[in-house]
Amino acid sequence: MTERERGGFYLTTPIYYVNDVPHIGHAYTTIACDALSRWHRMRGDVTRFLTGVDEHGQKIQQAAEQRGMTPIELCDEVVVNFRNLWDVLGISSDDFIRTTEERHIKVVQHFFRTLTDRGDIYKGSYEGWYCVPCETYVPEGQMGAGSVCPDCRRPLVRMSEESYFFRLSNYQDALIRHYEEHPDAIMPRARYNEVMSFIRSGLQDLSVSRTTLKWGIPVPGDERHVVYVWLDALVNYISALNYPTPGEMWEVHWPNVRHMVGKDIIRFHAVIWPAILMAMGVNPPVRIFAHGWWTVEGDKMSKSKGNVVDPFEMTSVYGADAFRYFVMREVPFGNDGDFSELGMVQRINSDLANDLGNLLNRTLQMIEKYRDGRLPEVAPCEGSNDADHALRKLAERTLLDMDRDMENFALDSALKTLWSLIGAGNKYIDETQPWKLGREGSGERLDAVLRNLWEILRLIAFLVYPYMPGTAGRIWTQLGLPGGLPEAGIMDWRWGGADPGIVVKKADVLFPRIDVAKWREEKSARDAAKTAASAPGDSAPAEKFDQVEMDDFKKLEIRVARVDSVEVVKNADKLYKLHLDLGFENRVIVSGIREFYRPEDLIGRKILVLCNLKPAKFRGIESRGMLLAAEATASGCETISLAVVDDDFPVGALVR
Ligand code: MSP
Repeated sequence: MTERERGGFYLTTPIYYVNDVPHIGHAYTTIACDALSRWHRMRGDVTRFLTGVDEHGQKIQQAAEQRGMTPIELCDEVVVNFRNLWDVLGISSDDFIRTTEERHIKVVQHFFRTLTDRGDIYKGSYEGWYCVPCETYVPEGQMGAGSVCPDCRRPLVRMSEESYFFRLSNYQDALIRHYEEHPDAIMPRARYNEVMSFIRSGLQDLSVSRTTLKWGIPVPGDERHVVYVWLDALVNYISALNYPTPGEMWEVHWPNVRHMVGKDIIRFHAVIWPAILMAMGVNPPVRIFAHGWWTVEGDKMSKSKGNVVDPFEMTSVYGADAFRYFVMREVPFGNDGDFSELGMVQRINSDLANDLGNLLNRTLQMIEKYRDGRLPEVAPCEGSNDADHALRKLAERTLLDMDRDMENFALDSALKTLWSLIGAGNKYIDETQPWKLGREGSGERLDAVLRNLWEILRLIAFLVYPYMPGTAGRIWTQLGLPGGLPEAGIMDWRWGGADPGIVVKKADVLFPRIDVAKWREEKSARDAAKTAASAPGDSAPAEKFDQVEMDDFKKLEIRVARVDSVEVVKNADKLYKLHLDLGFENRVIVSGIREFYRPEDLIGRKILVLCNLKPAKFRGIESRGMLLAAEATASGCETISLAVVDDDFPVGALVR
């Protein structure tokens, strides 16, 4: 029996780091998983949908330090944002896991112990280039110029530590064999090829413990080490099913597991994780699907640019269903996409207000006008009329095509298929001209037309449900159907299956048209309010300083300096050693700006330096002076901007 016939579907989102507020990227994955899970529940498959948060590791420890909190205090605070967002977006997950929960910790330790007992984990020592934000060692061959991380482009740190290793290299052949036999196990195809060539290029054993960090799960039997955050995190998918307790959920769901991830984390899921599972004697995932990344109005999304799309804001302005629809429809699932709020407004107007909204409205209006709201009790046309026959065939095919698309995670294509049916419904109205039939007294034909339209709308209510659950419910009620939209049995849908005595209940339009001119005004006001809210004076009261005499200021020797070169300071996550040219001399200063600037952003810049500050030592390096920068908090995050002067201004110049 194939997976499909067995009818099991267990789907997971990545677990999100809690050092950040949720953004469109997090919302995107989770909405996609929600739509797929809802579809499978409608199919009657044994469905489970898991999401959660990743709470251990250096990133979280650092974020907590910066905010003067303990890591768990930070986790407890931020996790609420994720839970709230899932509520607002109507996410129907069956479970939400936190990696600090006992149920998870004990399974991670079970993995570690078992793999050690089996000889798949051994103790050694590790020295290499480490990327703190990505929590990963980067092999020398993959480093970018200037020792930067190939993924996030931030500087790497040289680290050396005693470490436990997982024998990843032993699983190279088994992984290749597995993927050759299961070419659909990694999707889309380009990602499959990427992973295969990565495996074929040779796998090295993986460091799976850390001694440099406290915030993690202790290695059983050697508590100086904590488990590497990625091993810890990946295990969530199975710890949430109470693995390895016999008779528990994992026995039902694990054989059907599918992971949805962003393209940046495909290797963790398609190389490391399946190898670990193989070593544990558990089946690797049935599928790993990597979706693309969103940019915003053509630009990379980043806090410093202030262009991060806030899903809370989008939902409160446009409603959860419109936002869900837009992100699923706009981009071929698997490709990168660009978010534009105007693009969303246009889609709301064309696809939702015009196409879908009009089909429902026109149909219900006519049933009310010509039949007092009562659904004509005739069998919907069995195919005697060409137009009716074509409509019915299209409806039946739409269901099957969407089912195939959903099986392939082609979420955008499924919507296009559905909108073809909606378009055909509107065209059917234009062509059959029911208003004429009413006038001409063609009663039977009018009955048949109205009944056919109602019939496709009943199917449409089912088919939009995975994407827009609220809207589906509203359509269902307006069609006069009793109870809520049933969450199972979509594959049992048959043309003409409604009970007699139905009275439609036309209500407010589903999606009012947005006036683009008014929208522009509203958006400018919203943007202005956001800028005001993120101004430092708003988030924190302005610091008060004593007045100083001019003579006090004159004591400061502030000069223009050019940054000649930049080195990272070993074992100090935030520090750079900057070599400066002051014209009359060269000097070294140590500065804590590493998380905000890459070396290449600094080299060659003309900055302002306080030169007569008493020298101080940082990590054994004498720093002679201090660079000047403005500091602010934007959207809850600390950010800085260097004080710079024009490129052609002479070095050594004094600031007065
Ligand atoms: N904690 C790890 C995942 C561990 S899973 C065992 C992690 N977390 S994350 O919060 O940084 O990222 C979670 C997901 O958000 C990733 O799949 C990532 O691809 C996705 N996105 C982050 N920014 C994104 C966009 N701009 N666009 C689309 N998705 C992006 O990685």
